[in-house]
Amino acid sequence: MLDRINALAAEISALTASSAAEVEELRIKYLSKKGLVSALFNDFRTVPADQKREIGQAINDLKNLATDKINALRDALSCADSCDDTLDLTRSAAPIPLGTRHPLSIVREEIIDIFRRLGFTIAEGPEIEDDWHVFSALNFAEDHPARDMQDTFFINRMPDVLLRTHTSSVQARVMEHSEPPIRIICPGRVYRNEAISARAHCFFHQVEALYVDKNVTFADLRQTLLYFAREMFGPDTQIRLRPSYFPFTEPSAEMDISCDLCGGKGCSFCKGTGWVEILGCGMVDPNVLEACGIDSKVYTGFALGMGVERITNLKYRVKDLRMFSENDVRFLEEFTAAH
Ligand code: DAH
Repeated sequence: MLDRINALAAEISALTASSAAEVEELRIKYLSKKGLVSALFNDFRTVPADQKREIGQAINDLKNLATDKINALRDALSCADSCDDTLDLTRSAAPIPLGTRHPLSIVREEIIDIFRRLGFTIAEGPEIEDDWHVFSALNFAEDHPARDMQDTFFINRMPDVLLRTHTSSVQARVMEHSEPPIRIICPGRVYRNEAISARAHCFFHQVEALYVDKNVTFADLRQTLLYFAREMFGPDTQIRLRPSYFPFTEPSAEMDISCDLCGGKGCSFCKGTGWVEILGCGMVDPNVLEACGIDSKVYTGFALGMGVERITNLKYRVKDLRMFSENDVRFLEEFTAAH
């Protein structure tokens, strides 16, 4: 009996059909009440008790094989039949959902593009840094509060290995290894040991710019800033420079732009002043040039640094910094049209 079952299995596996009618014939031949497979079930009664288990299993397998085969033949034919007359080649394809670029990437690229038009090239440096490039080379005094554990994530002490707190570290690295003229833009992620809230995060993004050459003056810095502000925020944008302090620049300034929400009249966004703060800048301190092996009697330079989150907030009015790192698709989808 097993031989008969095996022979039938081979026969069924090899079946072919070229029309629905042929498939129906095959179904009747093998699977109908009087079909060849059903006949085996009848004969099963005469199988000796000790073989019933094995043979019963084989007959069941054969029935499944036949059912699957006939269904497969039918499916193959019904597709071929219907394809001929129902395939609508003019129908639009199923939409492919497009991803969105992250708002911070959109704004970072925009900043880079503006500086690229002025001849700046991109420079990058490591996020895991040493004390020299983040602080010492940039003229931070040994006891400067920014070195404090509260601001800086230290990975190791003595020698100090830390997460960079600003992209100004890339200035130091580039100046150490290149000759002026240097005209670079350094985008990157930075880390500070801050409690996470709507207005502060333990990591964020900056873009730093550095220009070192003979005869670079504060007027060059101011003109570069004005160009940047107008390209970024519109041609009517005004800028103002307020004196400030950074260890690595002298003189130092902070730049504000006219508030584009109220047109400078004063509103809740600019806290009634008509101005919003955008970035820090200044003339590279001669100590920094010397620490990085550049002759400060021959060369001068300017530097500036800005937070990408801050610029993005100004452009898109994102109220909560945490939105940038939560990867909530509903938030990200709002920027689909922005690139
Ligand atoms: N590194 C400063 C910060 O993280 C930003 C900055 C200020 C960069 C002035 C500069 C600069 O290059 O000249 O707050």
